[in-house]
Amino acid sequence: MRRVSAEELLALRRRVLRADNPESSVEDPRDAEAASRHFGGFLGPRVVASASWFSSLAPVSPELRSYQLRYMAIDLDVQGRGYGGLVVDAALKELRSLGVEQVWANARDSALGFYVATGWCVVAGSEHLSHETQLPHTVIFRHLSDATPSGAGGG
Ligand SMILES: CC(C)(COP(=O)(O)OP(=O)(O)OC[C@H]1O[C@@H](n2cnc3c(N)ncnc32)[C@H](O)[C@@H]1OP(=O)(O)O)[C@@H](O)C(=O)NCCC(=O)NCCS
Repeated sequence: MRRVSAEELLALRRRVLRADNPESSVEDPRDAEAASRHFGGFLGPRVVASASWFSSLAPVSPELRSYQLRYMAIDLDVQGRGYGGLVVDAALKELRSLGVEQVWANARDSALGFYVATGWCVVAGSEHLSHETQLPHTVIFRHLSDATPSGAGGG
C-alpha cells in the first residue's frame, strides 16, 4: 500500500465502481489538489486497491478537521481478502499524522457491512441516492482522535 497519483487509480475506479463504462465520470475536481491523498494497493505491478481522500467540511461534526473518502474500490477478483481494510488503515495512518480528526464518506449501502466491520459509524437518517450512480448511499464517519465532538455520539 502506498501513496499514488489519482491518474494511477482511474482505471480501477472505472472498472469496479462504474462497470467499466468508458462514458462514466471517475474524476473528482479535487483530485490534483495538494491536500488530497490517494492510496493504492499493489500486487506486483498491478493496482488492485484504491482509496482517495479529500479535505472537506463534514456533514457531521463540522468543527472537526475532516477528510472525505471517495472511490474506495478493490479489484473484482481480489475482494474479501482484507485489502480494503489495509488500504484504509494505510491512509488513516497518514491522515492522523496530518492532524485530521475525522473521516467521512457517502457509502454505498451494498458496502455498509464493510465499513461497520472496520470501525465506521452510520449516520441514521442520511440515506440518499447518489447523483452520479443513482445507487442508495448512506453517510458514514469515523473519528481519528480522542476529541469529543459536540452533538455526535460515539466514534
Ligand atoms: C467494499 C470493499 C471496498 C471492501 O473491500 P474488501 O477488500 O473486499 O473487504 P475486506 O476483505 O477488507 O473486508 C473487511 C471486513 O468487511 C467485511 N465486508 C467486506 N465487504 C463487505 C460487504 N460488501 N458487505 C458486508 N461486509 C463486507 C468482510 O467480511 C470483513 O469482515 P471480517 O473482518 O469480520 O471478516 C470491496 O469489496 C469493493 O470494492 N466492493 C465494490 C465497490 C464498492 O462497493 N466500494 C465502496 C464504495 S462506497
